[in-house]
Amino acid sequence: MNRKIQANSLLFTCLLAAAPALHAADTAAPDPAPLADQAKASVAAFAAALKSELLAAMQAGGPLLAIDVCHARAPAIAAEISRQQELQVSRVSQRNRNPGNAPNDWQAAVLDEFEARRTAGEDLAALSWQSLAETDGGQEFRFMKAIPTAPLCLGCHGESIAPPVREKLAELYPDDKATGFREGDIRGAFVVTRQLD
Ligand code: HEC
Repeated sequence: MNRKIQANSLLFTCLLAAAPALHAADTAAPDPAPLADQAKASVAAFAAALKSELLAAMQAGGPLLAIDVCHARAPAIAAEISRQQELQVSRVSQRNRNPGNAPNDWQAAVLDEFEARRTAGEDLAALSWQSLAETDGGQEFRFMKAIPTAPLCLGCHGESIAPPVREKLAELYPDDKATGFREGDIRGAFVVTRQLD
């Protein structure tokens, strides 16, 4: 891992404020506004760190080297932000590359809703959703934001992927479903959950 890449992601995670203290003991019906702000900031930090590391790796060694950023760094950055913010941030997609990024039932329903809202003309860059859910473990704040497919993504998620990249992806992800996307498609979504009790 090159030092510049490491420094970039540190910078982005450091830009996040400390997690606001929000416990159910404080109030029975938590105000969703600060939770939504925190979720949005966490997603923005995750997206910015990923993009900056991806761009740096693409410039340094093309998509073949950059696969390692997505493979190893994406989960590591998500884990770092989750720990710092006391929540869970991740990425999901129905057409996933890593089967560990498959959505659960409510996440799949929101992804379907995003597709419908996009078809109805909503701006993809602003597609988000939030909810306060009752779970067995208590109340849970849930937030999702759609991830658009940009030109930068097509070398690894597009319709024509260079043979060496395709081979490495097939080696790492034998069940890869995350190819054949076009610019402007919904590639998936960021998910934030925060347990409130
Ligand atoms: C250099 C190759 C490469 C590029 C470029 C790339 N990705 Fe990925 N992407 C991957 C790999 C590898 C994974 C699997 C990561 C893992 O194991 O969690 C992945 C996973 C994902 C996931 C998680 C869901 C899944 O399919 O497992 C999303 C969402 C995603 N990429 C979006 C994007 C977007 C948006 C862009 C462009 C901004 C992009 N990717 C560019 C290689 C790439």
